[in-house]
Amino acid sequence: MHVLITGGTGLIGRRLCAALSARGDSVTVLSRRPQSVPKLCGTGVNAMASLDHWTSELRFDALINLAGEPIIDARWTKTRQQVLLDSRVAVTEKLVKKIAQTKHQPQVLISGSAIGYYGIDADQTLNEESNSGHDFSASLCVAWEKAAQTVTEMDVRSVILRTGLVLDNDGGILKKMLLPFQCALGSRLGDGRQWMSWIHCEDYLNAVLTLLDDTSATGPYNLTAPQPVTNADFTRCLSRAVHRPALFVIPAWLLRLAMGERSDLLLGGQRVLPTRLLTRGFHFHYPDLTSALANLIEH
Ligand SMILES: NC(=O)c1ccc[n+]([C@@H]2O[C@H](COP(=O)([O-])OP(=O)(O)OC[C@H]3O[C@@H](n4cnc5c(N)ncnc54)[C@H](OP(=O)(O)O)[C@@H]3O)[C@@H](O)[C@H]2O)c1
Repeated sequence: MHVLITGGTGLIGRRLCAALSARGDSVTVLSRRPQSVPKLCGTGVNAMASLDHWTSELRFDALINLAGEPIIDARWTKTRQQVLLDSRVAVTEKLVKKIAQTKHQPQVLISGSAIGYYGIDADQTLNEESNSGHDFSASLCVAWEKAAQTVTEMDVRSVILRTGLVLDNDGGILKKMLLPFQCALGSRLGDGRQWMSWIHCEDYLNAVLTLLDDTSATGPYNLTAPQPVTNADFTRCLSRAVHRPALFVIPAWLLRLAMGERSDLLLGGQRVLPTRLLTRGFHFHYPDLTSALANLIEH
């Protein structure tokens, strides 16, 4: 299979390139920095600097769309919100337009989204049928998903990855948290009652490959472990995994002052279940946080 990936140089994309290459698939990464693709994604991975280079001779069987500016790195000013939107929605729209124009259409578009789709929800258990929220993260995900779903009008299969917090020791939330926890500076955030719906990177990759191969898979899938935890539980688990106490609490007001609306990502949360993956019999290697952290921290 020949797979085109956007955002392939990112944390998840790099892992995906390695997993696809390892099973013999051919991979091309669309990147704004094509010269770094071999180093980041593997020497066998092709780089594409622009969709204009998708010529009629090129044939992709599948597209995996993960491009997007990092969501938590900068304050959500109006300008930043537009950058976050454009880097996901506009990139997806261009991709869909290209699919419409191309002679050999791919069979499937697998496109990113996040559990932020559901908005902030204190306690309800959410599955793929739950309603979308109304905050900025939710409206971003709704627009991103809508742009991707239009490929179904061209008879291209569409799968949406409503992704939780991907735990990986190479980047993302775990890498950010690890050093303070290892220095016994681990802290609960606010009252610690907010839900964290996480997934081990290995389960994430297996889920994406499963949804890629299963031609009957369509629509949204929650990519989260079946056992979400509260922030207080996450703090306890990570503290135990690194054998250091986590005695501190970062008050909610301080996070709000420092981060503005973005603090919702840390102080709010949602209890999301991977109902559709479980229904189709997907096996999670790391269903609980203790085993996931033990594996990631050991390696
Ligand atoms: N990691 C998580 O826990 C998590 C959770 C939920 C959802 N997600 C979503 O899943 C996707 C992949 O996550 P990740 O953690 O791998 O992200 P990442 O490490 O930040 O990588 C994202 C990639 O997107 C591309 N990109 C960034 N800004 C862009 C722009 N303005 N225009 C076009 N491309 C741009 C970059 O590729 P180039 O520099 O090569 O162009 C970058 O390598 C993201 O969209 C993210 O929102 C991630």
